[in-house]
Amino acid sequence: MASASFSLSSACFKLLSKQPAVVTLQRNNGWWSGVEMGPPDAILGVTEAFKKDTNPKKINLGVGAYRDDNGKPYVLPSVRTAEENIIQKKYDKEYCPISGTADFCDLSIKLALGDDSPVVSEGLNATVQGISGTGSLRIGGAFLAKFFPGAKDIYLPTPSWGNHTPIFKHSGLNVKSYRYYEPSTCGFDFNGALEDINAIPENSIILLHACAHNPTGVDPKPEQWKELSEVVKKRKLFPFFDMAYQGFASGDVVGDAFAVRYFLSQGHHIALAQSYAKNMGLYGERVGAFTLTGGSKEEAARVLSQVKILIRPMYSNPPINGARLVTEILGNADLKAQWLKEVKGMADRIISVRQQLKSNLEKEGSTKNWNHITDQIGMFCFTGLQAPQVERLVKEFSVYLTKDGRISMAGVTSKNVEYLAHAVHQVSK
Ligand SMILES: Cc1ncc(COP(=O)(O)O)c(C=O)c1O
Repeated sequence: MASASFSLSSACFKLLSKQPAVVTLQRNNGWWSGVEMGPPDAILGVTEAFKKDTNPKKINLGVGAYRDDNGKPYVLPSVRTAEENIIQKKYDKEYCPISGTADFCDLSIKLALGDDSPVVSEGLNATVQGISGTGSLRIGGAFLAKFFPGAKDIYLPTPSWGNHTPIFKHSGLNVKSYRYYEPSTCGFDFNGALEDINAIPENSIILLHACAHNPTGVDPKPEQWKELSEVVKKRKLFPFFDMAYQGFASGDVVGDAFAVRYFLSQGHHIALAQSYAKNMGLYGERVGAFTLTGGSKEEAARVLSQVKILIRPMYSNPPINGARLVTEILGNADLKAQWLKEVKGMADRIISVRQQLKSNLEKEGSTKNWNHITDQIGMFCFTGLQAPQVERLVKEFSVYLTKDGRISMAGVTSKNVEYLAHAVHQVSK
């Protein structure tokens, strides 16, 4: 044994003392050889190209986040105060309940439906915290795919926010469409929408943008919402409201919630996705809410129990920081009043640059009808510019936007609006 162990260790010694052999490891393709390169995100691609451009006059109109009049990201002062309050409170970092805290859910649904909403006072809402608007839509998609008693078909407006289709397909729903936008007027195709909705099979789901339709900025007027409510009821459709811009559209959180509140007043049961990304500027905090309304308190409780069962394997429970900020703001009368002024400030700036863009186009001598710039509402303006004109804007003027002619009004400031109007006039005359 002794001699065997001696000869083994000496062999090891000889091996180790030799120069290491150059081993060329032949890797095979691995498990993912069949995975194709995916297309880059259309909007992030615009920002990438913008960053590389050295023109000092360049403008990025692709980004869907608010900017102040200096083109800088804006943290709302009410959010800063809420942050300081939270630090003072020295909260722990324990897990949140699966559905978020009761306070957060209560404040969120009251913001959407009003403090005096009978739906809330009668306990007919099943509300949970969601991972911003996207996550809230996704929870809704999962619930409807599992429990919606009709066909698993959801009808989206054409066009709709680019993420709606993947969110609902990923949830297991069949995505279909109804007419919404009329390119010849850059406005709402009310008749087309009514005609299409009238033809949707009963017991389907219809997605409605509660306000500040993305990407068109085109919203139905209150009277048109009333007719839509009638048709949706007549066709026995289930309305799913995406409310990502409450307060951000008109500056008034009540006015922007008109459609949601009106539908409820007409006896509809609804799904509702809320986001605090835009109206509180909490983009990266990923905080929102999802609600389903039921016919009774007991039904809402059953629904809530199933929503929680869906959330648990998806992400277990929601992040705490954004929800604490929202709770701090909405739960404190003074801070809420301050926040309401700040949301209005953001909306007013957007409304003002819309007017400035239109009047600067007129000053440039444009004879085209630009009324849609001020008729449309919210973060985005569907300019009606065609792909070749967009290409010229990018190449000749370093003005960056998506190919569909959508511009983020948040990227327009009192300093760049003249240059932008000049560029738009040059490519559209
Ligand atoms: C119509 C619409 N819904 C939902 C969202 C979701 O945004 P977030 O997940 O950041 O709250 C957006 C964001 O751009 C949107 O425009």
